Amino acid sequence: MAIEPISLDAAPRRAAAKVLIDGVSKRFGSGADAVQALKPIDIAVGAGEFLTIVGPSGCGKSTLLNIVAGFETPTTGRATLDGKTIAGPGHERGVVFQQGALFTWMSVQDNIAFGPRALGKSVAESRDIAESYIELVGLTGFGKRYPYELSGGMQQRVGIARALANEPEVLLMDEPFAALDQQTRELLQEEIRAIWRRTGKTILWITHSIEEALFLATHVVVMTARPGRIKAAFTCGFSREADPLIATTPEFAEAKRTIVGLLRQESLEAQRQETAA
Ligand SMILES: Nc1ncnc2c1ncn2[C@@H]1O[C@H](COP(=O)(O)OP(=O)(O)OP(=O)(O)O)[C@@H](O)[C@H]1O
Ligand SMILES: [Mg+2]
Repeated sequence: MAIEPISLDAAPRRAAAKVLIDGVSKRFGSGADAVQALKPIDIAVGAGEFLTIVGPSGCGKSTLLNIVAGFETPTTGRATLDGKTIAGPGHERGVVFQQGALFTWMSVQDNIAFGPRALGKSVAESRDIAESYIELVGLTGFGKRYPYELSGGMQQRVGIARALANEPEVLLMDEPFAALDQQTRELLQEEIRAIWRRTGKTILWITHSIEEALFLATHVVVMTARPGRIKAAFTCGFSREADPLIATTPEFAEAKRTIVGLLRQESLEAQRQETAA
């Protein structure tokens, strides 16, 4: 069995956490219009772990990521980075959104150099940094292009390069490949795994694709329908680097069945809530 249940908030994990989501809940609005997006959630993410999150639409995944990014504040609990409470965005955390977060008026190179410049690096050094990340994400030769001249997949790579150029310790990814075709997606998944192995970054990654969640992760979290809680968590060890046909193995099929089963219950619940509302 290549996935195993795990308690992500066990004391030793909490003590060693790079990112700790500590009793975090979120309620939007007040009174009759209030929406309880998240019930208290505890997740300890260790340095260098690759944690993927799946859950029904509207269950609070983006909300949770935005709290770790520092774009939202939790209603209860706190998120910490290296033991310090997260109170706002910071360059130690790089965020990649589903789409559309590039500066459309800047070239690829300037988009990527923006972070290093903001951190006080010289123009020349920022350019060099941008060039190295352009190469890393396989866009050599496209530095002078503008986002509108690139395909969706290439734009996503620029987004990833831009996040990496700040040398964040933690990467926060909200369905970064959702808009891509299957082939491009699989290639970029392999690139991301390679980057992760090379750099040892800590990654939190939201996806609706169960296969993607299983391919990428060292840990997979399944969330419940809204209000989001943790339904189950697993350690995960599928690697297409080791076996390009891993998806055809019985272990992979079994893991997928487990996650699909858990999600199906929750999606039905989410649907029920919607029709009741
Ligand atoms: N700024 C906000 N103000 C009010 N309600 C919000 C806000 N942001 C999110 N919500 C609500 O919180 C709930 C969770 O939203 P969230 O975007 O976190 O879900 P999600 O799991 O990312 O969904 P999806 O898979 O569709 O992206 C939803 O009911 C949403 O309407
Ligand atoms: Mg979302």
